Amino acid sequence: MATINRIGVIGCGQMGGGIAQVAAQSGYQVTMFDVSGSQLEKAMTGMEKSLTKLSEKGKLKGTVAEVIKRVRPVSQIEELGNCDFVIEAASENRELKLKLFGDLDRIVPKGAILCTNTSSISITEIARQTSRAEKVAGMHFMNPVPLMSLVEGIRGLATSNETFKIVREVAESMGKVFIEAKDAPGFVVNRVLLPFINEAFFALQEGLASPKDIDQAIRLGLNHPMGPFELADYVGLDVCLSVMEILHRDLGDSKYRPAPLLRKYVEAGWFGKKTGRGVYVY
Ligand code: CAA
Repeated sequence: MATINRIGVIGCGQMGGGIAQVAAQSGYQVTMFDVSGSQLEKAMTGMEKSLTKLSEKGKLKGTVAEVIKRVRPVSQIEELGNCDFVIEAASENRELKLKLFGDLDRIVPKGAILCTNTSSISITEIARQTSRAEKVAGMHFMNPVPLMSLVEGIRGLATSNETFKIVREVAESMGKVFIEAKDAPGFVVNRVLLPFINEAFFALQEGLASPKDIDQAIRLGLNHPMGPFELADYVGLDVCLSVMEILHRDLGDSKYRPAPLLRKYVEAGWFGKKTGRGVYVY
């Protein structure tokens, strides 16, 4: 495989922090960029906690300190200038991602591969913001990244075979199972998951059952580790709404219309666990 040593991660929320962690666990030198110093601190604390858990269970190669040492938190995007491979995991906001890829193209060496962890935005459109569309791909991790074994790989229209091969190898070197999905809204996981969560909100809105009972029904009736509302609160209701809006707009089918109750919760700022309130209060 082309030698990838330095991985840059953009954004240090749940996804970015998790990606930076698994990259460091796999031996890469990681530069983790976020504009917010307090978010960077929070991400480093979270990473230490997660690594300690993994270490206690004998699931960590090396010590927590050795892994942490491989992560350099930075608040200037220019610091990604020496990376061979960048994974963008900023907020799921189209304009922000498009701008970031224009910036990255100027900052990161021409030979470097640029990936996005978007869960729903067109890889082809993101790639168009750069002068190296053949070196841009989608690399969609699942939350919580340190525990979930899947990565969806997505080729944009111009992604080269060589780039895609390296993306697969990097994902596999992080211990992940890689599947290839088409560059279509939601790819595979969110195309199936979000209408499921959205339907749970319709069910709740219609008074079919209480949130607890709907979650219980899915956990016990389908053997899912979490019910749809527990999962929605965990992923973020704002993220769920944004993905539904993209499915609805881009696939043009009314079956993807966001449930009004989901929209209402987001309007209230009830984004889930991260804001202390979603369907449940934390
Ligand atoms: N790092 C290390 N350890 C972690 C961890 C992390 N980030 N998160 C949880 N753990 C540990 C817990 O501390 C706990 O350890 P102990 O058993 O020692 O106490 C253990 O994992 C199990 O956790 P919990 O007891 O809290 O709960 P659980 O058994 O239900 O497992 C879970 C948690 C792995 C998250 C499980 O509930 C699960 O698989 N849920 C479904 C997650 C899922 O569907 N993710 C995909 C979301 S969709 C997505 O990501 C795509 C998108 O774009 C929206």
